Amino acid sequence: MLINNSGEKIRIKITALLTVICVALTGCGPFTDYSVADVSTGDIGIGNMSDDALVSVGFSQLGSESTWRSANTESVKAALSTDNGFFLIFDNARQMQEKQFKAVRSFISQRVDYIVICPVIQEGWDVVLAEAKDAGIPVILLDRNISVNDDSMYTSFIGEDMYAEGASAGKWLEEHFANQGRSNDEINIVVIEGTSGSSAQEGRAQGFGAIAARNMNWNMVASVNGEFTQAKGKETMARLLSEFEDIDVIVCQNDDMAFGAIEALNEAGVKTGGIGEPVLISFDGTKKALELVKEGVINVDVECNPNSGELLAQIINDLEAGNAVDKAYYMEEKVFTKENVDEYIEDRNY
Ligand code: AHR
Repeated sequence: MLINNSGEKIRIKITALLTVICVALTGCGPFTDYSVADVSTGDIGIGNMSDDALVSVGFSQLGSESTWRSANTESVKAALSTDNGFFLIFDNARQMQEKQFKAVRSFISQRVDYIVICPVIQEGWDVVLAEAKDAGIPVILLDRNISVNDDSMYTSFIGEDMYAEGASAGKWLEEHFANQGRSNDEINIVVIEGTSGSSAQEGRAQGFGAIAARNMNWNMVASVNGEFTQAKGKETMARLLSEFEDIDVIVCQNDDMAFGAIEALNEAGVKTGGIGEPVLISFDGTKKALELVKEGVINVDVECNPNSGELLAQIINDLEAGNAVDKAYYMEEKVFTKENVDEYIEDRNY
């Protein structure tokens, strides 16, 4: 435990226990928008809650915008279960950084052992992380990265290399046009972006942009925020179709936006993926998207791996044991095309 005073630790557990009883009896906790982990599913037993051996973790998830996000939340909940020795306090920030600040401050006041944050955007974290540091609570960043002046504000980052994902998509496109003998053709590209200012959006845009910069014939004609949701993806694609007649490549920065874009394209009678049709690029590698890769509707899907819960549990256990941990851990990620997708569809868990 990182709190040396064991009397203090017991008090936290009792506070947590009272919180659960309050939630169970009244349906509402003392903290607005809070749910004690897994109370909704009834997974936490009160006996476990009073077990001082549990490591308490406050988890600020940024929202529930996508299939990927749900898989990430499930991965963390499964790994940080009471059976595995954790007491998880979960908060869904619904895309609002302010709500993430509020959650972190509440975790600090509850004196949890660890704080885990999936940050909705990169900027703006210095003050609240300084508060966690002052309270002596290690912060682990999950999935998305942040931009801070002093990186001692957090202990470790576990997530995806968004820049590499964007670059992989760009390299695939270069090769695709080379194979078609179109390396010198004028190519019009539209991008449906994820949440503005998020490391997922900025990293993918920069990675893809680096490859685009060396292909002078690639025209980035529009880049529009689709907020990582299917509904926005559809709305944005419909608008792009009405604004641009000649689109060669559609880059959707996640699968949910690609699903929405495909709906809009279908409604407009536009097919993708085949010869003479716009190329469709997506990110995440959800099962549904891999099926569309197999059908040839999506040309390439760059994986973004949401199954980081186990690694998170391992890092926390290492810290508990006093072991040194790395500053950053990157999830393993693949690139899916028609050629290799059959190998992976069956085992997809998201
Ligand atoms: O940060 C990961 C991204 O956020 C995933 O690509 C997307 O689906 C999610 O909402």
